[in-house]
Amino acid sequence: MERREIAPLEMAGHIMEKLPDGVLLNSQANGRFNSMVIAWGHLGVEWGKPIFVCYVREGRFTRPLIDEAGAFTVSIPTERLSPEVLRICGANSGRDIDKVAEAGLTLVDAQANGVPAVAETPITLECKVAYRCPQDLSLMPEDVLARFYPQDVPSDSCGSNRDTHVAYYGEIVASYVLE
Ligand SMILES: Cc1cc2nc3c(=O)[nH]c(=O)nc-3n(C[C@H](O)[C@H](O)[C@H](O)COP(=O)(O)O)c2cc1C
Repeated sequence: MERREIAPLEMAGHIMEKLPDGVLLNSQANGRFNSMVIAWGHLGVEWGKPIFVCYVREGRFTRPLIDEAGAFTVSIPTERLSPEVLRICGANSGRDIDKVAEAGLTLVDAQANGVPAVAETPITLECKVAYRCPQDLSLMPEDVLARFYPQDVPSDSCGSNRDTHVAYYGEIVASYVLE
C-alpha cells in the first residue's frame, strides 16, 4: 500500500464534510490498538502549526491510550463508514472487544507518530498531542448540558453520559492518502 502525501490542510473541505457522519480516531499504547468513531472536531491552525482538535469523553477507553502515547491518528473514509464499522467502533468499547478483529480493519504502520492508520478509511492525519484541555460543565449552556451531559447516565455508556470531554489538540505531523 502506497502513501500519497498531501498538505495537512489540503483536504480540509472533504474532511470537515465527512466528520459529522463519523470518522475514526485511532489510539495505541501498552500493546493495545483501539479505534473509536468521532463526529466532533476542528481542523485549523494554532501556534503556526496545522492542528486537528478532537473531543473525547473522560471515560472512553481511547482517552488513557491517547494520554499514554501522546498521539492519535484520524482516519477519514472516502465516502462513509460502513454501518458495521460505525456500530462496532461507535457503540462498543475497546475495553470489551477487539475492534480491529470484529470490524475487519486493516492496520497500516504509522509514518511519524506511532499510531497506525486504517486502510479502509484511507485519508490519514497522524497527530501528536500539543495541548489538552478538559471542558468545564459549569461554563456550558443549559440546553447543551441537558442534551449531552445527562448526569444520571454512567461514564461507561457509549453514547452521551455524565462525563465531560477532553479537547485534544493534535499537531498534524504526517498527512497522506493510502492507495
Ligand atoms: C457518529 C458517532 C459520533 C461520535 N462522536 C464522538 C465524539 O466526538 N467524542 C466521543 O467521546 N465519543 C463519540 N462517539 C461515541 C464513541 O464512538 C463510543 O462511545 C465508543 O464506543 C468509544 O470507544 P472506546 O471506549 O473504545 O474509546 C460517537 C459515536 C458515534 C456513533
